[in-house]
Amino acid sequence: MGNPLIVGNWKMNPGYAEALALGGQIASNLEHIKEVDVVLCPPSIYIYPLFEHLKAKPNNLAIGLQNAYSREEGAFTGEVSVKMAKGIAKYSIVGHSERRKYFHETSQEIAEKVAFLLEKNIKVVLCVGELEKFHLEDYYDSEVKKMSQEGGILFEIKQNIAKIKKSDLANLTIAYEPVWAIGTGNAAGGAYAAAVCYVVREFLEANYGEVAKEMKILYGGSVNDENAREYLMQPSIDGLLVGNSSIVSKEFIQICRIAAEVKNGRNI
Ligand code: PGA
Repeated sequence: MGNPLIVGNWKMNPGYAEALALGGQIASNLEHIKEVDVVLCPPSIYIYPLFEHLKAKPNNLAIGLQNAYSREEGAFTGEVSVKMAKGIAKYSIVGHSERRKYFHETSQEIAEKVAFLLEKNIKVVLCVGELEKFHLEDYYDSEVKKMSQEGGILFEIKQNIAKIKKSDLANLTIAYEPVWAIGTGNAAGGAYAAAVCYVVREFLEANYGEVAKEMKILYGGSVNDENAREYLMQPSIDGLLVGNSSIVSKEFIQICRIAAEVKNGRNI
């Protein structure tokens, strides 16, 4: 289903000059790596200068926000609206675990953001993930059942997309990011990530029908240029959400290259 999608979440990094240099290096390399779609999500203060800097950017490179508010404008100190990023940001991450944890974003707020952004034609990368590792190898059925119960990842997805129009689902990507794997170096492993992404796909198709087939499901959590291939080789995983390794140009470019290779069926 189309090109793999690689999203770089720069979080609150790097400095301004490095950010422009990083964007420039990624863009010039993507001129030669076509079979991958890449989204760079810098801190929102950089999106305009980065866009200007990358004016002649390749078609497969887009800019995204890491977060955006569920209103267009108004008295919401410190927030960023997609109206302000119009024509610049094509995507926004929503519900990242760091937003849920440090900024106490609730499922309800996330649901409002998801619906609002999709309505404004911004593609949404919705993040969900469990706090503690599942024991799929020993208790597959009961662990999958728990995912649909309150606090489970399928339950959370359902809540987070409760307010959207079904026709908007094609513009929604789910980033499955086990919280215990984010920024820890303790990546989930290809088989584990693939099993959960498969369950998410089944759930989406059972609950939302045909349109769910167009949705992408990404894995995120300590992805680097050494383990990226093991995720990208999995049929149930359509791409990656990359944090730490997305601000190291060599690593991120290599991840994009691997994605394109896998897409091409080569195995270098
Ligand atoms: P990480 O971050 O790659 O540094 O684990 C992933 C994320 O937070 O999206």
